[in-house]
Amino acid sequence: MRLEGKVAVVTGGAKGIGEAYSLGLAEEGARVVIADLDEAAGKKIAQQVEKAGGKARFVRTDVSRKGDVEALIAETVKTFGRIDVLVNNAGILFTAPVEDTTEAMWDSLLAVNVKGLFFCAQAAAKEMKKQKSGKIINISSIAAVGGQAGLCAYSSTKGAVLPLTRVFALELAESNIQVNAILPGTTDTGMAKAAMADPEWTRQITAGIPMKRLGRTRDLLGAVLYFASADSDYCTGQTLIVDGGYSMI
Ligand code: NAI
Repeated sequence: MRLEGKVAVVTGGAKGIGEAYSLGLAEEGARVVIADLDEAAGKKIAQQVEKAGGKARFVRTDVSRKGDVEALIAETVKTFGRIDVLVNNAGILFTAPVEDTTEAMWDSLLAVNVKGLFFCAQAAAKEMKKQKSGKIINISSIAAVGGQAGLCAYSSTKGAVLPLTRVFALELAESNIQVNAILPGTTDTGMAKAAMADPEWTRQITAGIPMKRLGRTRDLLGAVLYFASADSDYCTGQTLIVDGGYSMI
């Protein structure tokens, strides 16, 4: 097991791709803290981990609230003694053409996808610095690198994750903390469901993916395990696109 004895926090770890990260990190031996708004779903995943012989805890967290994030990190250290891995995965999506994109959409997206991600990385880094080791994995999106109609505000927030990743990586490099980003392609989760309800949209997106299928949540796990484990100890400030080849053409 690659993460025996490690402690991992997964924000947005109760559902969707985050659920796969929570379960997959636990399968590799990590003790997992699931930080999410959805208490019922989060507790269910924590129970699932424990039933399989692992260790997990749910901490209700709104990543856009600095106080919640500080309490999350304090609770993690109190319960498991340290924090080795942060998967900065919580995110929200609004789709709207430019003319219908509202200030409220911008504020919510920035609060969760950018400021929330920043608060979590900042608070986790403080603990990791004391240990002189750690892994921060920021979840961006292929929306950060390509233009997609309807995603003006969302894409901007996912784009912001890339320089944030590099700046954290630089500032933390000498503390032996690696900071990297993953850019998932369209993946079959609650977030993509509204769009997937339109069969024409799904047909068009799938046709553009060289592998001819949407992502499944477990497709992202290998990338997270790489960045969470010692395998990536000399890799920092990098981005890995996992999208069935969509963005290469
Ligand atoms: P999802 O909507 O299925 O799950 C997101 C999880 O985050 C939920 O459990 C939700 O309760 C939690 N969450 C939302 N706001 C939160 C907050 N303020 N504080 C704490 N938890 C919060 O989303 P999905 O698809 O699993 O996405 C996960 C990440 O991957 C997101 O950052 C998303 O932007 C990114 N992504 C997703 C893609 C997709 O096609 N599904 C494609 C590219 C990136």
